[in-house]
Amino acid sequence: MSDGSNLEISADGIAALNSPDIDWWEMFADDAFLASPYEKLSVIREKAPVQFDPVSGIYFVLGYPEYKKMALSTDMGRDTRLWSGGWYNPENKKADPVGYELYNTIQPQMTNANAPHHRRMRDVYEKAFRRTDIQALIPMIEDECRKILDTLPFEQSFNFMQTVADPLSRNISKRIFNIPKSMDADLARWVDALSVIGNVIIAPQQKQDALKALTEFRNYVRERMASGIDDPNDGFFGATIKAYTDGVMDEDECLNNLMTLISGGIATATLLGNGLLTLLRHPDQFELLRRNPELMETAIEEMLRFEPGCSFILRVAIDDYQCGDVLIPQGALAIGLVTAIGRDPRTYKDPDRFDVTRYPNPHVVFGVGAHICIGKALVRLTARVLFNALMDRFGRIELAGEPEWWKHRADQHGLNALPITLGNA
Ligand code: HEM
Repeated sequence: MSDGSNLEISADGIAALNSPDIDWWEMFADDAFLASPYEKLSVIREKAPVQFDPVSGIYFVLGYPEYKKMALSTDMGRDTRLWSGGWYNPENKKADPVGYELYNTIQPQMTNANAPHHRRMRDVYEKAFRRTDIQALIPMIEDECRKILDTLPFEQSFNFMQTVADPLSRNISKRIFNIPKSMDADLARWVDALSVIGNVIIAPQQKQDALKALTEFRNYVRERMASGIDDPNDGFFGATIKAYTDGVMDEDECLNNLMTLISGGIATATLLGNGLLTLLRHPDQFELLRRNPELMETAIEEMLRFEPGCSFILRVAIDDYQCGDVLIPQGALAIGLVTAIGRDPRTYKDPDRFDVTRYPNPHVVFGVGAHICIGKALVRLTARVLFNALMDRFGRIELAGEPEWWKHRADQHGLNALPITLGNA
């Protein structure tokens, strides 16, 4: 790599050279691929469900059974310090001090921890995010939906992402974490600058911007924790303060976990946008759902599978790991390609068909195993409340122009613009 990123990797320890003909990183930067990666990835998966990129030294997992086994294996973890060619490598520390500081500051948190530290931190938050406990948030989510739907124009096109999906996700996250409206601009800037980290390969300027955002975001969370404005027995700040005073988490772990939870909430917008677009592109399925609202649960799972909001899920080999036919050596980075895994014909009958009745639908959009997305029940609930409210109010929802997909993120798959028009049936 020549971008000065933390991925200057030697070819040592290469176990297989499955895909020297694919320029993975050029593909991940291609606008057409980012808008619709499915066909290209199917062709690549057909060749082999696990592939090695000799340029970056990264393993790509495109097959469903291979990914699922890997995500459940204790030989594959999330601690990126174990990635021998990555940011924590002593050579890289000298060559890329900004990248090192960025990753080192953000490292201590449940997302990046292996057992037993992962469980120690996850236990602080897990109960509050369970499906049963999340039900208490229904009135608040309904209230936030209603406030936005009340303002929507009739028979006039508007950008669903800017007007509904993004503000709704942000507002719900702000309500849950008790963040005032005055923080809107800062929060949006921080989340945007930090979102590039998941891309794995990032440019030097992006690292500088992300480090600045990280410092500011952490300062805000630190001040919130220190000010004690939250009841220590209530809410996520309270639970974090209690974990800190009980010695369960140190200060860095508290700050980073809270930041990830706040930013994670905003990711809900990908399901709202990708899901609505998919319904609009499949009018027969949209009509079936309208006539049978009890299909909402299976429909949401199918939206998650068909146009997933997340594209990369990372693992680092704690030990040598046999992934399908490929040996992933200790210290190597593997990336599960969600957009390929969800269309694997070995798991899904007719994978390119969008079917709101599909069941079972064991998609991996939220991951699998110990690190499975803690916010998944909240995401599903938000989508259910919003789609029900939209269909109740508007007999006609139509696409009003070309959607515009994100062009700057390979690790996530979401929309900048989704022009729609609302009206009566
Ligand atoms: C459509 C929206 C979302 C998608 C597609 C998504 C996807 C994911 C994925 C793929 C993982 C990693 C799983 C793994 O490594 O095996 C994850 C983890 C996580 N997500 Fe989400 N997520 C979403 C929304 C949320 C929300 C709303 C929150 C918080 C309120 C959240 C908080 C987290 C946290 C804290 C983790 C780390 C869990 C752990 O390591 O134990 N996510 N998510």
